[in-house]
Amino acid sequence: MDKLLIEGGVPLRGEAGISGAKNAALPILCAALLAREPLTLTNVPKLNDVGTMLKLLAQMGVKVSRDGATVTLDAAELNNPVAPYELVKTMRASILVLGPLTARAGEARVSLPGGCAIGARPVDQHIKGLTAMGAEVNVEHGYVHAKVTRLKGARLFTDMVTVTGTENLMMAACLADGETVIENAAREPEVVDLANCLVSMGAQISGAGSDVIRIRGVDRLHGTTHRIMPDRIETGTYLCAAAASGGAVRLTGTSTSYLDAVIDKLMDAGCEIQGERDAINLKAPQQLQAVSLRTSPYPAFPTDMQAQFMALNTIADGTAIIRETIFENRFMHAVELIRLGANIKIDGNTAVVKGVAKLDGATVMATDLRASASLVIAGLVAQGETLIERIYHLDRGYERLEQKLLALGARVRRVK
Ligand code: UD1
Repeated sequence: MDKLLIEGGVPLRGEAGISGAKNAALPILCAALLAREPLTLTNVPKLNDVGTMLKLLAQMGVKVSRDGATVTLDAAELNNPVAPYELVKTMRASILVLGPLTARAGEARVSLPGGCAIGARPVDQHIKGLTAMGAEVNVEHGYVHAKVTRLKGARLFTDMVTVTGTENLMMAACLADGETVIENAAREPEVVDLANCLVSMGAQISGAGSDVIRIRGVDRLHGTTHRIMPDRIETGTYLCAAAASGGAVRLTGTSTSYLDAVIDKLMDAGCEIQGERDAINLKAPQQLQAVSLRTSPYPAFPTDMQAQFMALNTIADGTAIIRETIFENRFMHAVELIRLGANIKIDGNTAVVKGVAKLDGATVMATDLRASASLVIAGLVAQGETLIERIYHLDRGYERLEQKLLALGARVRRVK
């Protein structure tokens, strides 16, 4: 298994390009299932999760072709509406095929994602929504089995804000008979990117980006070309890395849009940030100040940036209180950061981080995607060498991580 060796203590400086958003690409790839004509996507990041999704779609009968960051999906024929356990177990987002497959093929068998390192993460809301739209949904032998002649528009209300839940139901509703209203919908920018792609395929959707989305079902969707939005979490991760290492960077192919909560906290920490139309510049202060935060659905502070800010707070001046309200077990990076010398106390969903003068390199273990990112940030700051094990998590969500870090002057090396 690959490991990442980082020699810390070098402030990041220079320019790096930001890739297309993983969390927009995954649902939008699934949108191809809704049409009989090809969907062409540009700015698709080369990530293991994207590769898994393409494999999943291909084994359903979708013809996939890829040329760099451009992917074309032709779902004219769907001959196997099944998402098997072997593929689903590595990526929870596989559940995103459930809605479009049910709507288009009238049947779907999708393995339950099962437990996940960061929490139970059930899919009851996805099932509840499809059932309300008239599908017969059973959970048997570890699979969600949905069947329907044609979905019917319905008024849907999710018990909590769920991103992939909203996306699944919005996609399903595009081909339903009549109007669907999703209340308590997720407002994440990736939901809006998906809605924009669906509208360009002929869907009738209004309200995406607000908590009430209305979808008027149509008989069919057509092909289109769509550019995936920039990855706001990748952007935020590099901003944190630059801030923590005391550097100054320019990130291109991205913008401050959708990053207000993150940028606000970085400025509170003392960073200077300047946004351009298609780039962000950050300059770190001499000494970072501790910043407290609480994760919540968009537009509040994203749970996917919590771990990176914990890393940043480990060497800030003062004490930060971090509250995680989305996932019940998302502090696994804390014990690894403690191995590097951080002072962190965890009590339930609250972490108290007292800044220390320095971190010391050590061997640490990556446990999930964003936890791994926080260890990279800590490794860049720590004195001496940090060896991060199990970096396959990083390959799921960060395109060309070492190359981008090297371009920013970091001393990193992948060890086979
Ligand atoms: C998406 C993102 C992930 C991010 C998360 C929260 C993708 C591919 N992944 O994950 O990176 O961390 O949003 O911003 O976009 N829940 C239920 N029942 C359900 C659905 C969700 O109880 O049917 C709970 C979850 O356990 C969690 C909360 O709702 O506690 C939010 O989860 P959700 O927004 O669904 O996360 P994902 O869409 O899986």
